[in-house]
Amino acid sequence: MKRVDDFRLKFGRKELVPIMVGGMGVDISTAELALEAARLGGIGHISDAMVPDVSDRRFDTSFVKDKTRFYKHNIDNSDKSIVKFDLGVLAEATRRHVESTMQAKRGEGLVFVNCMEKLTMNAPRETLQMRMASALDAGIDGITLSAGLHLGSFALLAEHPRFRDAKLGIIVSSVRALQLFLRKNSRLNRLPDYVIVEGPLAGGHLGFGMDWAQYDLATIAAEILLYLKTEQLEIPLIAAGGVFTGSDAVSFLELGAAAVQVATRFTISDECGLPTKVKQDYFMAGEEDIEVNTISPTGYPMRMLKSTPAIGAGIRPNCEAYGYLLDGAGGCAYITAYNREVALNPGVKTISVKDKTCLCTHMRNFNCWTCGHYTYRLKDTSHRLPDGSYQTLSAEHIFRDYQFSTDHQIALPALESQAVISAAQIALA
Ligand SMILES: Cc1cc2nc3c(=O)[nH]c(=O)nc-3n(C[C@H](O)[C@H](O)[C@H](O)COP(=O)(O)O)c2cc1C
Repeated sequence: MKRVDDFRLKFGRKELVPIMVGGMGVDISTAELALEAARLGGIGHISDAMVPDVSDRRFDTSFVKDKTRFYKHNIDNSDKSIVKFDLGVLAEATRRHVESTMQAKRGEGLVFVNCMEKLTMNAPRETLQMRMASALDAGIDGITLSAGLHLGSFALLAEHPRFRDAKLGIIVSSVRALQLFLRKNSRLNRLPDYVIVEGPLAGGHLGFGMDWAQYDLATIAAEILLYLKTEQLEIPLIAAGGVFTGSDAVSFLELGAAAVQVATRFTISDECGLPTKVKQDYFMAGEEDIEVNTISPTGYPMRMLKSTPAIGAGIRPNCEAYGYLLDGAGGCAYITAYNREVALNPGVKTISVKDKTCLCTHMRNFNCWTCGHYTYRLKDTSHRLPDGSYQTLSAEHIFRDYQFSTDHQIALPALESQAVISAAQIALA
């Protein structure tokens, strides 16, 4: 019976354990998590979502405070179009986040950065170009372009000295999206180094409509593999979304995938950036506690726990501090929804906005609990402790479980000593 460890992801002369830990913004896939994946011989992702805020937390900079102060006069204005990002700040924040991560990298694996293109930041081209170029300057091994994949993004890097040496990958959810991307980029003579094919069971934003349940990853992956073969394109395919056990991963590797990208199992790891309490909410979730909804202002459906505080919250748009979803004209679907509710409820202090959410603020505060479909199975991956909570796991434990398990088995971690003591006390009482 095969294990993930029987396969290798080949990038040129480099051979990697074919496990990629997916990007999870905002700083849910921390540097610590990405570094563990790399140390163990796979690939980890940091995310550049809201990177000035991440820099403030990691390095005690004051980018968000400074920006808020600069735009303070606009806070009560319902029009946020004057809020712009300082490209120098963006470059500096990216440099700090990426450089310190890469300096700490050990082992044979790689660290990539996940760039969500839906973070349009009131100047989509310029800000994306700066984010990607700064990450390359700071030594990142590769860039994964996701959420809102723009067909012209590779061209933004064409003049960069690392354009051909760094790994550049894209996330797609259909063969058509891949075909369009390749056609648009053909004149660059630069194929993606990998294509992540994300199915409808993933966490975060979905590349499907609300009819997502009609699609399945195995079918889409098979279609794309056939297309790549027919066109004689040697682009490694990485399957993502709902790969919960090592055996799930093996089934994709046997189908012809070069690797898998996984995330949900790592949301309850010690290295994951979610607060301890939220990790427990993920553990406790049942299947009925998870939904796919349309509250993200990006226009993409998103999967999350139904108990997510972001659902129905009517907070004032916080674009002076954040504003990452402002489109090229300075608008955001949440601002529109919020302004509508304010006009409909004159004099009401606390309003509720049901159809959209202020994703920047809620993601920043870990109040949008996005998760994969199989979050309800996380409880099967650990021990319930005497106090009713679940024991969090090391990223190494989860990684190795994917790498070596067979037969859909999931190895439980060693019971932590505190739990053993408490259990013993309970038994004695
Ligand atoms: C909490 C969470 C946050 C995520 N955030 C992002 C993100 O910021 N960008 C992105 O491209 N994908 C994001 N994803 C998707 C993952 O990177 C990954 O492709 C997918 O969840 C894999 O499926 P799995 O969670 O079933 O293993 C997120 C997933 C989770 C669980």
